[in-house]
Amino acid sequence: QLNIAIAGGGSTYTPGIIQAILNNIQKLPIKEIRLYDIDEARNNDMFLIIDYMLKREKLTDVKLIATLDPAEAFTNSDFIFSQIRVGGMKMREKDEKIPLKHGLVGQETCGLGGFAYGLRSISGLLEIVGFVQKYAPDAWILNYTNPETIISEAVRRVYPKARMLNACDMTISIEETIAFNYGYDRKNWIAEYYGLNHFGWYTKIYDKSLERDVMPEIIEKLNTENMHVADFNEGDKTWQDAFNMMSVITKSFPNNIPNNYLEYYLYSDMVVEDSDKNYTRANMVMEGREKNTKEMAEKIRQGKTEDVLNFNFGEHGQYIVDMATSIMNDEHKRFMLIVPNHGAIPNLRPDAVVEVPAYVGATGAEPISLRENICDFHKGLMEAQVAAEKLLVDAYFEHSYQKALQAFTLNQTVPSARLAKLVLDEMIEANKKYWPEL
Ligand code: G6P
Ligand code: MN
Repeated sequence: QLNIAIAGGGSTYTPGIIQAILNNIQKLPIKEIRLYDIDEARNNDMFLIIDYMLKREKLTDVKLIATLDPAEAFTNSDFIFSQIRVGGMKMREKDEKIPLKHGLVGQETCGLGGFAYGLRSISGLLEIVGFVQKYAPDAWILNYTNPETIISEAVRRVYPKARMLNACDMTISIEETIAFNYGYDRKNWIAEYYGLNHFGWYTKIYDKSLERDVMPEIIEKLNTENMHVADFNEGDKTWQDAFNMMSVITKSFPNNIPNNYLEYYLYSDMVVEDSDKNYTRANMVMEGREKNTKEMAEKIRQGKTEDVLNFNFGEHGQYIVDMATSIMNDEHKRFMLIVPNHGAIPNLRPDAVVEVPAYVGATGAEPISLRENICDFHKGLMEAQVAAEKLLVDAYFEHSYQKALQAFTLNQTVPSARLAKLVLDEMIEANKKYWPEL
């Protein structure tokens, strides 16, 4: 029986994780769930919601705690799911709005917003990994905290042996979206994919039941207008937009299926044009998911529990639970993971942090090698981004303004060193409480 700690327990993603645990309780028997957060009010709200979920499932023997104390949270834990967001949604809003003000992409993981967030996240994650080394050195950390390549790069410099897997649900969501729209069953797929996090391409999607690579026909469909057979998650505009963006990119570069996040790098001018400088994704999330969650907790507090849970659980929770299950039961299931390259992409520098398929079992991740070189177009894009991310992590550890400026300048969403400097200087002010001194 397992003890699971959720770092960033107050996150609105927690109910999705718990629901996925409950759906898989046979394979992942739970003794304790510990919600750990530095924000007491949010953590306590989440306690009420999760407590309600457990009672509804009659899982009264699962012990639930909400704590601000790392010793209580992590001692004897078997898995730590990390989804902390250093600075919260308020800082996400700045990550998005400061670059936009200067005509640059404003996004939480891509572009300069992602870099600002990276410099905040590193300290938070290093702290969590430090706690885990101290209180539960054998536990597995399954990390979702963004921006993942930057975090992974930083953590492995300090804790090269940490038992940590970095994963992103985006590939699953892309596959689900495509499968749903075009009538495939993703469970039959063995996908080949490479890239950096939020920055990659599918090269093959073998369908076991159809016994063929379905990628060419999917590209064909993506390239043909009006091929959407249905809206994914009816009414979920974000996913439909992402899907449309994949088809825009494949029309120009038709040999692969892109991660839709590539829009920020390949079409940054269009993205900026479409953005509202005064109302970004952070505002949407604060007024939507964040507010709903708070209201749900309030209803439970007042004993009004009818129809209280109206979550739209994404793939996030299921993915993280599937990974834990695969480790626990040595299942060797295939996931896309964010790992040091070490030859997985043969013609990319071995010390890059990449996202590639990996098999996950009792000893962790076994990434697979592509066995083929990638094309110059992708390699060039990736190399610039890898260098920028490495410079950013150097800047963090060396307190180097110069390297931070180089990183900001090299970011593929930035056309000018002048703009890079303007944004960097404003970000330094905005992040005073969070960044190391540069
Ligand atoms: C996907 C990505 C995450 C990202 C999230 C943002 O799940 O994989 O890396 O954090 O989307 O979602 P949100 O609803 O907060 O904009
Ligand atoms: Mn992600």
